[in-house]
Amino acid sequence: MSNPQKPEAGPVISDEDFLKFKEFFYRRTGIDFETSKRYFVDKRLVARIEATQTNTFRSYFTFLRFQASGDELQQLTNVMTVNETYFLREEYQFRCLVDSILPEIAGRKAGAEQIRIWCIPSSTGEEPYSIAMFLLENWPGINQWDVEIISSDIDTNVLRRARAGRFSERSINKLPAHWLKKYFTSVGEDYQLCDDLRQAVEFTRVNLSEARDTAKYRDFDVIFCRNLLIYFDDASRKAAADTFYEALKPGGYICLGHSESMSRTSSLFKVCKFPEAIVYQKSLELK
Ligand SMILES: C[S@@+](CC[C@H](N)C(=O)[O-])C[C@H]1O[C@@H](n2cnc3c(N)ncnc32)[C@H](O)[C@@H]1O
Repeated sequence: MSNPQKPEAGPVISDEDFLKFKEFFYRRTGIDFETSKRYFVDKRLVARIEATQTNTFRSYFTFLRFQASGDELQQLTNVMTVNETYFLREEYQFRCLVDSILPEIAGRKAGAEQIRIWCIPSSTGEEPYSIAMFLLENWPGINQWDVEIISSDIDTNVLRRARAGRFSERSINKLPAHWLKKYFTSVGEDYQLCDDLRQAVEFTRVNLSEARDTAKYRDFDVIFCRNLLIYFDDASRKAAADTFYEALKPGGYICLGHSESMSRTSSLFKVCKFPEAIVYQKSLELK
């Protein structure tokens, strides 16, 4: 019988285990956990060891690496990601999109072409849905152009929530009251996004650090990649820049989070200082 005074010992993650896991997870996702994140990582590893009843880090790590379906790697990835986001976060970039970027792109396209936007990472969807609302509310071209918004994330839980379109008060509190009224209905303490907007964004699972996942993402006019590269190290940021270069059309733009910079990562893009924001552009002349 267990002694109620003495808590039963759970799985322990040693320094060596942490380093092994850190290296493995980095290779799979590009995410670089610094030692300062040790508590965050250990807590989640212990929870997954318990959930899978593998009992020790060593058995769990073997299970994780050799499970053919990859389900446990996905479960673990879902708990290791940081999904912080909200509507109209870094709004100045959406303003830049409608006032500077899209007019420039539309000016050099024939009217029948599509305008394609890729938003990665989507997290729970607030960012791509903000883009859709911003276009509807602030871009006259929306009636004339066929705009496609695709949004991706590595985390399957956030994608499920994004598709459902149910948001908390915390998520929506930067939205103007008339947008809230127009696009949402209250459901208890939450807000349900209308079907028209939910259907305006296609959500897909993509690991940005996995070439097999990103290979079919091509011919985008604009990419939003905000608040992801901060979790990467220099090598994975550089690989992400190469991926974005391949995914963009000539003359396409990329928007990063306010603390992220492409100039420090790659020389593939030109810096564009628009009045509203600094963004990066793939050259028009190259293929
Ligand atoms: C802090 S959120 C940023 C969400 C949104 N772009 C924003 O700025 O509000 C970071 C997201 O990156 C996703 N992520 C982490 N590694 C990824 C990878 N290798 N590929 C795709 N998404 C990834 C996480 O699942 C998480 O949802």
